[in-house]
Amino acid sequence: MEQTTKKNGFASGIGFVLAAAGSAVGLGNLWGFPYKTSANGGAAFVLVYILCVLFMGSIAMISEIFIGKRAQSNTVTAYKKIKKKMGWIGLLVIAVPTIIVCYYTVLGGWTLRFAVNSFQGANGLSNATSFVSFTADPIVPVVFTVLFMALAALIIMAGVKNGIEKYSKILMPALFIILVGIVIFSLTLGPGTESGLAFFLQPDFSELGFDGVVAAMGQAFFSLSLGMGTMIAYGSYTGKEIKLGKSAMMICIFDTLVALLAGLAMFPAISALMGEEFLLGLGAGASGPGLIYVVLPQVFSAMGGVGQFVSFAFFAMVVIAALTSVISIMEVSVQFIIQRFKTNRKKTTLIVASVCSLVSIPIAWSVGGAFDGGLNLFGYDFLTFLDEIANTLLMPLGAFGACLGVGWFIDKKLTANPMKTLRSLREEGVELGVFMKIYAVMVKFITPILILFVMLSGIVGKVGENGPSYWWIVGAGVLIVAFLVLAYFKFFYKTDCGENADEEKLEKTKA
Ligand code: PFF
Repeated sequence: MEQTTKKNGFASGIGFVLAAAGSAVGLGNLWGFPYKTSANGGAAFVLVYILCVLFMGSIAMISEIFIGKRAQSNTVTAYKKIKKKMGWIGLLVIAVPTIIVCYYTVLGGWTLRFAVNSFQGANGLSNATSFVSFTADPIVPVVFTVLFMALAALIIMAGVKNGIEKYSKILMPALFIILVGIVIFSLTLGPGTESGLAFFLQPDFSELGFDGVVAAMGQAFFSLSLGMGTMIAYGSYTGKEIKLGKSAMMICIFDTLVALLAGLAMFPAISALMGEEFLLGLGAGASGPGLIYVVLPQVFSAMGGVGQFVSFAFFAMVVIAALTSVISIMEVSVQFIIQRFKTNRKKTTLIVASVCSLVSIPIAWSVGGAFDGGLNLFGYDFLTFLDEIANTLLMPLGAFGACLGVGWFIDKKLTANPMKTLRSLREEGVELGVFMKIYAVMVKFITPILILFVMLSGIVGKVGENGPSYWWIVGAGVLIVAFLVLAYFKFFYKTDCGENADEEKLEKTKA
């Protein structure tokens, strides 16, 4: 295992890959991917998703890790180091995950509750019957949300090497083992599993519309944690010990593998125990909580006594996945605040976690339907509203920025000239062996165009699908971007926003 001499950062290449995979593997894989597959007709969606990972995800992944590795700093400084005027994208990719963490922890809290509640037998309190009453309660989901946040905060406080890396190295293999176990169990449930398998593996393109393609792209970015600063932040904690292309590929492959295994774990079990009519449109409705919080608990309950253990294993696994993601989501803002304002890691984490917890309370009420569902924005619950802004607008914008930065602006003299891009990328330290030329063309032209195209058509499609109320979501997204651009040029453009070495210095002066 390669060791680095860097103090503040990942101790090993594999530690980085596992932490980044920990960020990538989350609710997106274990819940979002299967329910979107189900909503978009099955295997055809899976195929398009894989293409999105290949042609957009992997290119953005390499670019983001590279931006971080090159800058050894938080995302604002990292973009400033590419081009000073691009620094606002660094701020955008701090804001997006910070918005996400406020609702992601609500779902993390639900998952935690479902894990600890797994052993309730068949009564009114069991997971299979209590989803609505639990989520609509004004207190209990909030308690679980805060608890979940506290768990993540504790790990971040311990630092990159002794917290994030250490726990990822334990939690990720654990998650994988549990998942493989559940897949094997699910595939051996007997008659009825075949139709679930066929639904997941035999493409039928008549079921996939263009909105499915857009959903696949959004899902790929979300699942790979792209366009949200996390891969830049984690990349910044690496050095010469990692091989850029190889690490990026490993993260993409692992993330996709987990999503595929999640599908293999669920669809055969659902068709075997509930009937194949359940396969299509699982978790339909706003944000699809149906799949893992309503349908799966019924599947577990149909398994009899053993179902309680399978339920516990499943939800514990989802908690692990969500936890390692939340850690990475919060690290982006924690890193920036520490470096820009020279604050200490523990206090910064505490403040960020407390503020996000406060924001998550009304979100929990809104999405759970507490207070008779009175809390909503233009007819959308707060979670859906924020998730739409992040997924359809801000995340693709962040990923677009990363490709643009590397493809066009990294080296002022050379990169802008298409004929010299390759040389400039090499001089900058992008080493991708035989894939170098493909990467250069992709990052410069194809991936950004694809992202932009799918993003714009996504907006148009969503407006068509949801009606004019969707413009409020688009408007809110545009306002957020405008606000961040202004804030950047007013407060951060001229100021030094710090780098990783600053945290080391801070630690030294303390010691
Ligand atoms: N990639 C995570 C998932 O699939 O659940 C979610 C996520 C992680 C979103 C990191 C945002 C982020 F910054």
